[in-house]
Amino acid sequence: MAKKRALITGITGQDGSYLAEYLLEQGYDVIGMIRRSSTVNFERIHHIQDKVTLVAGDLLDEVSMINLLRDHRPSEVYNLAAQSFVQTSFSQPVFTGEVTGLGVTRILDAVRVVDPGIRFYQASSSEMFGKVQAVPQSETTPFYPRSPYGVAKLYGHWITVNYRESYDMYACSGILFNHESPRRGLEFVTRKITNAVARIKLGKDKELRLGNLDAKRDWGYAKDYVRAMHLMLQQNTPDDYVVSTGETYSVRRFCEIAFGHVGLKYEDYVVIDERFYRPAEVELLVGDPAKANRELGWKPEVTFEQLVTMMVESDLAANK
Ligand code: NAP
Ligand code: GDD
Repeated sequence: MAKKRALITGITGQDGSYLAEYLLEQGYDVIGMIRRSSTVNFERIHHIQDKVTLVAGDLLDEVSMINLLRDHRPSEVYNLAAQSFVQTSFSQPVFTGEVTGLGVTRILDAVRVVDPGIRFYQASSSEMFGKVQAVPQSETTPFYPRSPYGVAKLYGHWITVNYRESYDMYACSGILFNHESPRRGLEFVTRKITNAVARIKLGKDKELRLGNLDAKRDWGYAKDYVRAMHLMLQQNTPDDYVVSTGETYSVRRFCEIAFGHVGLKYEDYVVIDERFYRPAEVELLVGDPAKANRELGWKPEVTFEQLVTMMVESDLAANK
């Protein structure tokens, strides 16, 4: 049987790197779309660089994606590329809309033009629930985004549904709640905390400046979540799924566990800094993963405490 071939946009990101590893393990040919930059940023994929094919393209340029699809003929496309940092979306709302919102139409349309039989995964987000209308949030909970990023993701979600319904495409939207790992970008709160804990413990920093400690998130492990993406594209019919742990913790609790793991108290080091507050906040996210459990057979394997301590240990090793 011919090898399955998948295209991943955003392969240099946290999720892209784990998904590429996972698909290679499943025997796929993996094509990664990378955008041109003046310096190479392959830290997350350097260990698999010789096993994947990297091709230039950009979510801002539909022609680049049409050519890429024509040249490489994948059977599955995972659209993980985005301007993914919520805080930045407030200072760059139009750019975020172009990439994170309209970018989805460009790649979906490229798929439609080249081969509408290609299976398509869209990286949608719990940020779309924003000011939550129900607790916990499921596939049927109404959306109420609270950031330009959330609004752009909502556009991406609905255009995916629209292409599925208009052109009979196998297009799925995975509504993933926050997922973290040692490969998380340093600007996101979890990695910002675990990296600071390591640096403070090793005497390299004295304090950690944070914003809203009372925000609550449903945090899972990125490696668990990429399995759900793959499962969504292996079903008989395309559908949308919430992927989450079903548990929620505050940023404060994350700090408590992370500092506690190295024998420190977060109250002694965390300084509240107004700069890290957002113009509109998402106060509480907690997902109901029942549909993904039931229909995909998906369950997370790493607990919240295991995730926090894994990230602290990794940052301790990296900062030594
Ligand atoms: P990430 O680490 O920020 O990675 C984003 C990726 O998108 C990077 O590879 C980046 O490339 C690429 N990219 C950005 N703009 C692009 C463009 N114009 N053209 C082509 N590529 C572009 O994000 P992540 O945490 O892995 O998340 C993956 C996806 O899931 C994102 O769409 C995110 O919004 C969504 N999501 C994430 C979470 C989460 O908790 N992690 C939850 C729900 C949804 P460079 O390396 O060149 O910057
Ligand atoms: N980044 C950051 N930095 N967040 C802080 C800080 C800080 O110093 N202090 C408090 N927070 C709070 C934020 O206000 C937010 O409520 C929470 O920590 C989590 O922030 P992030 O880690 O930046 O993630 P996010 O929830 O805004 O967005 C992530 O999850 C979404 C899914 O819900 C990103 O990965 C998005 O791409 C993803 O879609």
